[in-house]
Amino acid sequence: MSKVRIYTLAKDLGVDNAKMLELLDSLGVSYKSVSSTIEEDTVELIKQILEEEGQAASADAAPAPASAPQPAPAPPEAQSAPQATATATAEREPQAPAREVPHRAPVVTIMGHVDHGKTSLLDYIRKTKVAAKEAGGITQHVGAFEAKTSKGRVVFIDTPGHEAFTTIRARGANVADIAIIVIAADDSLMPQTREAIAHAQAAKVPMLVAINKVDLPQADPERVKTDLTQLNLVPEEYGGDLIVVPVSAKTGEGVEDLLEYISLTAELEDLRADPKGDFSGVIIESRVDRQAGVLATVMVQQGTLHVGDFLVVGENYGKVKAMTDSNGGRIKEAGPSTPVQVLGFSEAPSSGEKVVSAKNEHAAREIVAQRVEGRRDAENARIQRKKTLEEMMGP
Ligand code: GTP
Ligand code: MG
Repeated sequence: MSKVRIYTLAKDLGVDNAKMLELLDSLGVSYKSVSSTIEEDTVELIKQILEEEGQAASADAAPAPASAPQPAPAPPEAQSAPQATATATAEREPQAPAREVPHRAPVVTIMGHVDHGKTSLLDYIRKTKVAAKEAGGITQHVGAFEAKTSKGRVVFIDTPGHEAFTTIRARGANVADIAIIVIAADDSLMPQTREAIAHAQAAKVPMLVAINKVDLPQADPERVKTDLTQLNLVPEEYGGDLIVVPVSAKTGEGVEDLLEYISLTAELEDLRADPKGDFSGVIIESRVDRQAGVLATVMVQQGTLHVGDFLVVGENYGKVKAMTDSNGGRIKEAGPSTPVQVLGFSEAPSSGEKVVSAKNEHAAREIVAQRVEGRRDAENARIQRKKTLEEMMGP
């Protein structure tokens, strides 16, 4: 048996990647990412540990074996605390475990140089991975879509490249969890590729590289990898930690691998959001439809959005009259990491604006009034400062 990739081993042994990395950490084994390979003897060790853990768990109420690891030493503050504290804690009623915040699907943005195949790649994924539903009443264009992969849902933001990404980010909202940099294998790194990489780095969003158009005879994926290395982005095969996936949006080659890597990256990011919490979201884009009115694409980030909810964006509010999902189907509610087209704003909100919900219309008005007042106060203060400064400077 030779070396094994970490995620393959995790899959084979039926544990998640995070658990596998935890085990490797505890053994002091170094790795770059879940696709790094590990030695055979480490594999054996891991199997042994998991087996023992399994036995310990199935030994039910049996007392812990003498060889069980000692609990980690308490931090210094706790150590110096009076003994009574520990006793008191031990005697206290066992607390109900905090409800686990559920995982949410990753939101992925695709960036890269002009014509390197971003739209084609998304089209390929959309065609093969989005179950087409019957189109609903209102127009279908939602600047985001959901794909189903073997590992669950992945949400792609399908707006023109990094423009949307930067405007949204400029407003302080990070919608994307993962960035995919698309680089054409026959063209390698171009100015906008470097820009895209810089954006992903500035946003501290994990980045995957898709080397596209590998079906072309003049494709040279090795050159792309070498060029990336010069930017200090070292592909895994070269000993670095950058995941690079060769793909073709034309033949579909490698697309499944790309989706798999997206899911792996998401799993490590441990993305969570509470569908039962307060709703908040971000405007992805909006436009005015002559017949329907203002249509805004909202990415739900926390909580759940319902038809009938009152929403506040900037200094405007609206009531959700109808919602459509990214397949154009009418829906009544949408949980975290769901892009939805919302009908009900009176004015078109801008990309990147934050959206919150209000209990009722009165509360919505109240929030708007506070915001208007806050803005006026700030404006007045600024005018006052300017005046004072002018007076100080004299005529
Ligand atoms: P912009 O939106 O203008 O920045 O371009 P883009 O990155 O979205 O590229 P787009 O998907 O429009 O593709 C540009 C051209 O490359 C089109 O003619 C595609 O048919 C072609 N193309 C995209 N992907 C592939 C591929 O994998 N193989 C081949 N042979 N052609 C591709
Ligand atoms: Mg495009």
